[in-house]
Amino acid sequence: MKRMFLSGLKIFYIMKKNNFYITTPVYYPSGQPHMGHAYSSILADVFARFNRNDNNKVYFLTGTDEHGLKIQKTAEKKGLEPVIYCDKMSKVFKDLAKKLNLSNDDFIRTTEKRHYKAVNDLWNKLFKSGDIYLSKYKGWYSVSDEAYYNSDEVIEKNGKKFSTFSGSSVEWVEEESFFFKLSLWQNKLLEFYEKNGNFILPISRRNEVINFVKSGLKDLSVSRTSFTWGIKVPNNDKHVIYVWLDALTNYISALNYPNIEDEFYKNFWPVSLHIIGKDILRFHAIYWPAFLLAAGLKPPNRIFGHGWILSGDEKMSKSKGNILNPLEIIDTYGIDELRYYLMKEVSHGSDGNISSDSLKRCVNSDLANNYGNLCQRVFSFIKNNCNNKVFKTKNISESDKKLTDQTNIITKNLRKDMLNLNLNNYIKSVIDISFLTNKYINDEEPWKLKNNNVEKMNNILHISLEQIAKISILLNPMIPNASTKVLDALNITNKNRNHDFLDGNILIPNEVQINELNILFNKIN
Ligand code: MSP
Repeated sequence: MKRMFLSGLKIFYIMKKNNFYITTPVYYPSGQPHMGHAYSSILADVFARFNRNDNNKVYFLTGTDEHGLKIQKTAEKKGLEPVIYCDKMSKVFKDLAKKLNLSNDDFIRTTEKRHYKAVNDLWNKLFKSGDIYLSKYKGWYSVSDEAYYNSDEVIEKNGKKFSTFSGSSVEWVEEESFFFKLSLWQNKLLEFYEKNGNFILPISRRNEVINFVKSGLKDLSVSRTSFTWGIKVPNNDKHVIYVWLDALTNYISALNYPNIEDEFYKNFWPVSLHIIGKDILRFHAIYWPAFLLAAGLKPPNRIFGHGWILSGDEKMSKSKGNILNPLEIIDTYGIDELRYYLMKEVSHGSDGNISSDSLKRCVNSDLANNYGNLCQRVFSFIKNNCNNKVFKTKNISESDKKLTDQTNIITKNLRKDMLNLNLNNYIKSVIDISFLTNKYINDEEPWKLKNNNVEKMNNILHISLEQIAKISILLNPMIPNASTKVLDALNITNKNRNHDFLDGNILIPNEVQINELNILFNKIN
């Protein structure tokens, strides 16, 4: 935001719209979606919604990663052509996006034409610049991770070989392959990380990446010849492009790459934030910027590698058979409840255990007893005693002022929390505002003023409504459904459902007519 001094003493705030491009990983549609997918997606959606409410121009992308040996094998097991299998499974992920209430602007499939065009162009650029050459790959490969591993990253257990990094089984591969000259980029990447201190967050992940790069980068095999399900290497049909080079490109295919002179691309590239899980950090923080730099394109602005959702002490995954189904949780408890719980309870940098007990505790204490109760008690009091109308006078009391001041102190840091991706702090702060507002109502006891000080009672209710409006806008990224119901009941127009109040805008007019509000969150027993 720019502050400009114009004629006279008037200060005008000119809201500068920033462009904000955010992505989730493109998901392998090789199995049913699980909580890990839901988590990456909801996290990205929360940042997308916050930025829209902050008057930024947002583009939010999600999608499916449909090529590679893993998908080919899964389709074969089901007796289906990969393309038929992907059509079916990609729809499951698209439906999940709706169920999770994602506000994505686009859903990309790596089997789409626009994506082929982008991957072909990127390959040709890398080939022409001499960054890709033909040779032979000899080494370990994990189909489940679609990743190559060095010998020192492999251990043997009961006669079988596994990756020490992910625990997935690996197989020995020897085949003709194109290579990307990753080794050339080692120092340039280290310089880039050094210059861009926030490129990888959290910091612990950044250190991991830097140490890995410092230990030496080998050229990367970027094509395979032993299967066919993928994008063919231009002018060499025998090879399909390595699924990670293919998949990472989705982030620019969605911006109509190679049309880099178009406004669309120029507005949104480089991406503001790639949300990914820590298991796929190497691909995003090392390979992806190296591919882009080699092709003369800008690397991403920021990558956030979140921790894993654990079930017991293990990562939740299909191969481990410990999947908590997000759809079941949504059907039992509700989507806002799931979204809020995952965002509040799972610390975003580290791994987090989830259970139905902690979900119940979280929903009951923050949503049902705190925010939900605040809304319900204020709305029903106004319905029963004021015919749904409230007015405000100039007679502001000390405690009215104290609540507003305390709220302003808390809200001052919220943009910074979001910018630093500190969602835990953000949510805690907003819930504190709700707690303070409940306390204010308890202390002020408006019900005692019904017969002797209607003016003061109205002021208390008016301030409570203003607080509820602010809290609802601030919680909107986490609980879009419930917060929208409240803002509707407050008759706040769509145009005002943004963060202008953080800069002093008033949300509730001096005289306000509100509507009835039904229960927002049921207590879970
Ligand atoms: N297709 C690749 C991503 C390509 S992006 C260019 C992929 N897909 S995935 O479906 O396996 O995983 C997608 C995301 O889900 C990753 O960010 C991964 O970290 C996340 N999760 C998968 N299981 C998870 C948990 N148990 N917990 C949290 N997130 C984890 O990788």
